[in-house]
Amino acid sequence: MIATIIPDVKKHYPVLLNELVSIITPQYGGTFIDCTFGQGGYTKKILNFPKTKVIGLDRDIASSNNVQDIEKKFKNRFLFKNIKFSQLNNLKLKNHNVKGVIFDLGYSYTQIKDPIKGLSFDSVGELNMKMGINDFSAKEAINQLSEKELEIIFKYFGEEKESRRIARNIVINRKSEEITTEKLVKIIESSKRKKNYRIHSSTKIFQALRIFVNKEISELIYGLINAAKLIKKDGVIAVVTFHSIEDRIVKYFFKSLSENKSISRYLPKNNEKINLFKLIDKKPITPSEKEINENPPSRSAKLRYAIKKENFYDFDTDILSKFKNLIEIENFSKKL
Ligand SMILES: C[S@@+](CC[C@H](N)C(=O)[O-])C[C@H]1O[C@@H](n2cnc3c(N)ncnc32)[C@H](O)[C@@H]1O
Repeated sequence: MIATIIPDVKKHYPVLLNELVSIITPQYGGTFIDCTFGQGGYTKKILNFPKTKVIGLDRDIASSNNVQDIEKKFKNRFLFKNIKFSQLNNLKLKNHNVKGVIFDLGYSYTQIKDPIKGLSFDSVGELNMKMGINDFSAKEAINQLSEKELEIIFKYFGEEKESRRIARNIVINRKSEEITTEKLVKIIESSKRKKNYRIHSSTKIFQALRIFVNKEISELIYGLINAAKLIKKDGVIAVVTFHSIEDRIVKYFFKSLSENKSISRYLPKNNEKINLFKLIDKKPITPSEKEINENPPSRSAKLRYAIKKENFYDFDTDILSKFKNLIEIENFSKKL
C-alpha cells in the first residue's frame, strides 16, 4: 500500500530549502542576506552552519516575532531589519563578506491566514492586502482607480482574460456600496462568463491586487539590481518565484547580465566584453513530487540563481526599460 502524506496545512514550509542550501554553500561560511526572512526557515538552516552570519530582512513587522529565539540561539550571528528589500543598498556591510543574497518571494502561511491583511479571497471585511511598509491599500485602489486602470492591473498583473467585465462591474457596484473582500469575490464570480474549475475564480484578480498594492515589480527589480551590486565575486543571488511575471523578470535579469551585454562602467579601455554573472542552470529548479505532496502550494515555485563572476559594484542594465510597461502600471498608485 502506498502511504499518503497528509500535509500539515497550518505550518509554514520553507520551499526548495535543500536545493537552496546546496547552491549557496553555507558550509564555507560568510554573510548571507535573507531578503524575505518570514518565519526564518532559510535563516535557521543557514545559521546551523557554524561560520555563517545572516542579515534577515522583512517588510512585515509581524515577522519580527520569529527573531528572538534565533537571536538567542545564534548569538551575534544574526541581525533583523524591518525594511523592504529594494532598500538593500542602505545596509551597512563594510565588515561583511557577503556570499549570498536570497529571495523567497510570495507570502508566508501566517500572512495568508491573517484576516486583517486580507491577502486571500477567504478573508472577510475591509480590503487591505498590505504586506508591510505600504503607501496605500487594496481598498483605496478598488475604490479610487478608474475602470480602465483597474482593467489594466487585472490584465497585466493577473493575466485575467475577463478583466474588462470585472473592472466595469466593480465601478458600477462601488457607486452604491463599499467593496469589501466578500463583495469583491461576489462581483468577480458574477462577472465571469467562463468558469475554470481548476482554480478559484478570484485567484488572478487577488494576485493582481497584491502585486499592485505591494509594488512587487519594482521591489523585485530594485532588489535584484542592489543585490548584484553588493555581492562579491563568486557570491550567489538565488530567487524563488511563485508566478510567471516574477520568473520572467528574474530570468531576464540573470540572462541579460551573463550574455556579453553587461558592460561595466569601469570596463577596461580595450573594450573587452565582460559578463557579470555565470549561469549554471538555464532552466529553473522546481520542487520534487515529494515536496509538492507535503506542501502543495510549493507546486508553482521556481528557483533561479546566478554567480557573480567579477568584482564590479556598478554596472549597466536595461531591466528597467525592459519592464517599463509594468512599472508604469504600478505608477497608477501615484494619485492614491
Ligand atoms: C514566502 S515568505 C518567506 C519565508 C521564508 N523563506 C521562511 O523560510 O520562513 C516571504 C516573506 O517575504 C516578505 N517580503 C515580501 N516582499 C518583500 C519585500 N519587498 N521586502 C522585504 N520583505 C518582503 C514577506 O513579508 C514574507 O514574510
